[in-house]
Formats: sequence, C-alpha cells, structure tokens
Amino acid sequence: MARALTLSKAAHLVGIPRGTLQRMIREGSLASFDGLIDTDELRRVFPTARLEDSGMLERVARIRDESFGRRMRERALPPAEILAQRLFVQSEELAELRRHLQAYHQLVATAISKLDQDASTDDTASRLRQMLESGLADVLASEPANPLDAMTDMLNVVCANVVVRPSGHDFLVEGNDSILQAALKAGLGFNYGCGGGNCGLCKARVVSGEVREVMHADYRLSPLEQQQGWVLLCSHTALSDLVIETLEASGPADIPEQQLVAKVRSLQPLGDDTLLLHLQTPRSTRLRFLAGQGVTLGVAHEGTDLQSTHPVASCPCDDRNLLFHLPRDPLDPLARLAFDGGLKPQDNVNVRGPVGEFVLGTNVEQPIVFLACDTGFAPIKSLIEHVIAAESIESFELHWLATRSDGHYQANLCASWVDAFDNFGFHALSDPDPAAGGALLTRQACERAHRSDTAFLLCGPGEFVEACRAELGRNGIEENRILRNVL
Ligand code: FES
Repeated sequence: MARALTLSKAAHLVGIPRGTLQRMIREGSLASFDGLIDTDELRRVFPTARLEDSGMLERVARIRDESFGRRMRERALPPAEILAQRLFVQSEELAELRRHLQAYHQLVATAISKLDQDASTDDTASRLRQMLESGLADVLASEPANPLDAMTDMLNVVCANVVVRPSGHDFLVEGNDSILQAALKAGLGFNYGCGGGNCGLCKARVVSGEVREVMHADYRLSPLEQQQGWVLLCSHTALSDLVIETLEASGPADIPEQQLVAKVRSLQPLGDDTLLLHLQTPRSTRLRFLAGQGVTLGVAHEGTDLQSTHPVASCPCDDRNLLFHLPRDPLDPLARLAFDGGLKPQDNVNVRGPVGEFVLGTNVEQPIVFLACDTGFAPIKSLIEHVIAAESIESFELHWLATRSDGHYQANLCASWVDAFDNFGFHALSDPDPAAGGALLTRQACERAHRSDTAFLLCGPGEFVEACRAELGRNGIEENRILRNVL
C-alpha cells in the first residue's frame, strides 16, 4: 500500500534537495496531493532510488556539518534510548496493522466457508466463492513491497518529521537534536531565547505525535499548559512524526535586539588582509539572528570602548559560534586592534544586535544570484548556508569580485559547494577597481540569469554596489528584485 510522505522525507529518501522536488511538482513531472507525495509515485519517478546510494545526501550532510560548526557535528543516529522508543512507536503501528490484516483474512475465510455450504444450491454463491479465492491468491502472489516503503520505515526510526502550523513548513529531527535545533538547521526562524531551558520563549504546542525531554529545563510550564500539549522545543526531541503550532520570524522586525558578552575563541588569518574572528557565547545565552544580518562588536581597550559593526559570516543555526571576516581597515578601531594583536583568545567582546535588512524572506523558491566584493562575501556566506539548510531555492549562484590579492579568501569553500550542489554555481573575478569590476561581474551574471523572477543580492563597498545596481538596471532588472548591503 502506498504511503504519503512529506516533502522533507521524500527528498531524504531519494537523496535530492527539497527544491528539486518542488520544481518537479510545479512542472507536473511528480504528482502530489495536499503537499504529500506517495511512495508509489516516488518509485515511478525515481525507480532506482536507494537510500544507501544517495551520494548527494552524504555530500549535503558533509557540507552542513562543515557549516554548522563543531557543536552541531553529532552522530547521524539518535541515542539508543530514542531509537528504542521510536522503534516502539513503529512496532505499535505494525502490530495494529497486523491485527487489522488478521481480521480481514479471517473475514474472507469465514465468507468462503459460509459460501461453501451454499455452493451446491446457489450458482451466485459459487461464483462469489471463486472470486474471493482468486482475489486472496492474487494478494498472496502480489508483487514484492515497494522498497521505498521499507526505507520509509527505517527513516521513521532514525528521524522524525515535524509539520509546523500555521506556516506549513516541515523538517526532520535527526541525531541528538532537539526540535528547536532541528528547526534552526532547516533554516526556520523559530521563536526562542536562551536555547537552554531557562526562558520559556521556545514554548510551542504539540498538536499530534509524541515528544520526549532530552535536556533538563529550569523553566516550568503550568499544569494547564502541560495538559494542553505545550512543550519547550529546546529541551524536547520528537519520538514520532509531529504536528506543532508555533510562530516563526518572517523578517528582521520579528527579532528583538539582544546584548550579550561573548569570548574570542580564535583569530586566524584568511589571507594577508582578512582575519577570521570566532566568538563563542556562554551556553545559556545565544544570539538569535537571521542569515545576512550583522551585529555591533565592542571591546574595552585601554579605557576606550572600541566598536564597529560587522556582518555575521556564519549560519543562524549555530547560534553559539559566531564568525566574522574582518578586513584590514585603518578606519575600523576593532579590526585595527585585531590586526595589531591586541585582541586575543578568551578576551570578552560585547555583542549587540542583530541589525540589517539584508535577509531572505520566508518561502523563497526563485533563483538567486549573489554578487559580492571582497569581505562582502561574509553575509552572503551566511545566506548561502541558510539556502543550503532550507533546501527550497531552485538554483543559486555566487559571483565574487576580488579587488585585493586575497580577495577570494574562501574560494575552496565555494568550490566544495559546487561539488556538492548541482544547483549552485561559483564565478570569481579579480579587478582592483570595485566599480569597473562590479559592472563586469554583473554583466556576466545577467548573461547567465535566464529566469525573469531571479533575485539579485549585492554586498560590498558603496562603489561596487552602485555599479552593480546600475548595470542590473541597464539589463532590465527591476528594483524590487534587487537587495543591497553596503559595507
Ligand atoms: S529557548 Fe529558552 S527555554 Fe527554550
């Protein structure tokens, strides 16, 4: 019997991004009903799909691991206890199914034996008996089960699907993840605060399915809330497929300003003129932000409070480990301190934010072209990691202009994205003039962008952004398809 799967599970089973399945549904090459795809249809379209053969799945998992930082690199399998409980849920469903089948089998056997008694006198009864017998024989000799059904059972044990109301988003909970961690990894903007069971901001209602507490929470829900199915998403995981009710951020206005003190974890050169600053927040304090946003960093040094604003270069899903690409800039007091060796591991850094509107909306599916100049790559990296997590974008391209010798300081990372994703393209250009280079980069991008709904996101110094915008205008790109961030 065919089984209905959510888009996330179907994509996971056949090892391709959700965005590709969405495109196939839109084009009519894959049938869906109410947003669900049945396993027979999946097998028709992907006849050779095998979970263990899905190299794409492994490549995507590797890229995600690299994006999400060490804290998020956890085993693919949940702990034995969670596995056992998911198996228990599965076995209960199986037992129920078996009980029904036995009842139907008994019903058919009773009908045949009853008809046996009348067959000598009643021709209709005899024909009905033959029909039931041949029907039963057909069932017993029927084709082997759809292998995707067996893989679905396995998937139900190693992960659980969560459908969110009212947005309709869905995502998988894997490994040791809490429901909140899994939602953030999937690029969703759930409401939360501490991430550690203290604030209650991640409270959501479970409409159906079973959850289990995986981390102690000091925040206590009232007996009425518990009775109504409210749980803390940061301290619970899913034992079975779930439907939950919770609100998601739809833009920067939904994210409150936060202030916290983080520690410098490391400072590493990415090139001669670019430093990678890694900050880590305390366990009980996370920074909630949207991909593409920035924060103001402040350091007390020799009686002065040095401050500057920088885009976050990491994924919002790893909210404790914040990465920044600091360019050598004599006008930036914090960067100057860092390049002069005045900022060291374990130093405190005040973080205030997030700030900025350079973000993608929810449910973006159309192709995206990113145009970056030098460290304009930083917020774009965060956005690309978000796009990878959300798996909803049809195709995305990065065109990166370097005006300095170390301008393409993470070209290897971009090359690994090209390797992992068929729908990602990377094009590098070097030119010391940000305006002339920006215009050329944009012309090349426009020659490749064939869809009339492609969105263009630009980030870099003012001359670069202005040159790109002007060139986009000359190529007939409307303003409402352009998003700009001047560094
Ligand atoms: S995020 Fe604070 S309790 Fe869950």
